[in-house]
Amino acid sequence: MKKKLIAGNWKMNGSSASNEALVKALAAGMDGKDCLVAVCVPAPYLGQVQALVANTGMDLGAQDLSQHESGAYTGEVSAVMLKDFGVRYAIVGHSERRQYHGETDALVALKAQRALANGITPIVCVGETLAEREAGQTEEVVKRQLAAVIHTNGHCISEIVVAYEPVWAIGTGKTASPEQAQEVHAVLRAQLKAATPHADRVHILYGGSMNAANAAQLLAQTDIDGGLVGGASLKAPDFLSIVAAAR
Ligand code: PGA
Repeated sequence: MKKKLIAGNWKMNGSSASNEALVKALAAGMDGKDCLVAVCVPAPYLGQVQALVANTGMDLGAQDLSQHESGAYTGEVSAVMLKDFGVRYAIVGHSERRQYHGETDALVALKAQRALANGITPIVCVGETLAEREAGQTEEVVKRQLAAVIHTNGHCISEIVVAYEPVWAIGTGKTASPEQAQEVHAVLRAQLKAATPHADRVHILYGGSMNAANAAQLLAQTDIDGGLVGGASLKAPDFLSIVAAAR
């Protein structure tokens, strides 16, 4: 069986001092972990955190990347640059980027493609809003979001990580129930199975108010292969409890 993956998404939080304290506390609690662990940090701190996670068993992740290889794209960060800092994962299509930066399904698919072309595993986020869930559109929305990535990436799709993050659960303290999450994860797994014979290899993470108290139950579901953790990834004891629940 594949190991679960717990990825912290720090979002736009941190400072040199707090990053050092957090990663040192995480490193001190990694003994005996039985899963993959990554921290997805703000771009300016990639170099700092690269050094801090070295030899800790944790991997480094970014929160976004440009769909372009290089050139006149002021403010953007390329996959090649991320690779230069030892980045293993890059979140793409987080709902906050879709919502505040107008990222479309097609753009997210291109970002995933750029990451894969540079040996970085994209963590592709999909998820419905509350209005979409209430309108009974959950399945349709997540399938549309994933379909774009499958369409652009073909057989490479087995190399991605998917994160199901219901928008209404992100940062709200409202978690999808394990059954609600599993239902959507099963839909996503079936969609991947139709696209690749290696769908079982793909980690499908749950994200949205995952915490020390609810992680074990969520992670016990058949198609939940890990978590993408926002708020709780900023507190070492909370993140370590989630890591401990992932086995
Ligand atoms: P949250 O964020 O755990 O704070 O809900 C998850 C995410 O947005 O990735």
